[in-house]
Amino acid sequence: MSDPWFVDAFRTGYLGVYAHRDDAAAGAEAAFAATLLGDVARVLDAGCGAWRHARALAARGFIVTGLDLSLDLLREAATLGGGPRYVRGDLRALPFGDGAFGGVLSFFTSFGYFDDAGNARQLAALRRVTRRRGRLVLDFLNAALVRAALVPRSERESAGHTIIEERAIRAGRVEKDVTVIAPGGARRAWRESVRLYSREDLGRLLGTAGYDVLAVHGDLCGGPFEASSSARCVLVGEAA
Ligand SMILES: C[S@@+](CC[C@H](N)C(=O)[O-])C[C@H]1O[C@@H](n2cnc3c(N)ncnc32)[C@H](O)[C@@H]1O
Repeated sequence: MSDPWFVDAFRTGYLGVYAHRDDAAAGAEAAFAATLLGDVARVLDAGCGAWRHARALAARGFIVTGLDLSLDLLREAATLGGGPRYVRGDLRALPFGDGAFGGVLSFFTSFGYFDDAGNARQLAALRRVTRRRGRLVLDFLNAALVRAALVPRSERESAGHTIIEERAIRAGRVEKDVTVIAPGGARRAWRESVRLYSREDLGRLLGTAGYDVLAVHGDLCGGPFEASSSARCVLVGEAA
């Protein structure tokens, strides 16, 4: 049986496609997240990838744990160092005690990968490890904008590689087929597939998981959320 898409996609090569999501951007986003987390010490970056935000938050004095399933990305993170502890695990079955963290981050669409039951399990797992009155910051795509402004195909060059991205909405998910062609002609291709939850859907899902929604922002700088134009849908939940 083949690997699920979220195993296949996040291997070496993934970081090259999202090279513009760099440490400078993560530093500014982490600074905003720090204002949302409040006065907490222990923070979980759930789906940390190569630790962009985890490193930036550790530099701000938080005790950060990064969790991810991808060995390739965790290895990349380990070479970068910077303070956080890293753990390999699945977002739906977190290997931490109840209330282990004062704050939990889910950044850059690290949610919506599974079916509805799996996504609910992920939120329940995040809630279980969040201390009472602790915060969740969920940075998700803005489904309304994705639906209204989907670009079916784009092609670009990055560090000598050609990156082709083909996008479609199917069965309530946005799916992106990514093909990376190296200078010598070698190809690697994968699919990314994310359930298109609206701002209202996300509010309901957080409520069911046991978070009160305190705020909704349209980006990771604190801008207001507008369904028709916001780049992101960032929910701040407080563990009830
Ligand atoms: C879109 S990336 C975001 C990474 C990071 N938060 C950032 O902003 O750069 C999503 C991350 O979720 C991880 N991931 C995917 N499925 C996972 C799972 N079932 N359990 C844990 N991590 C998973 C991927 O390996 C990847 O690093």
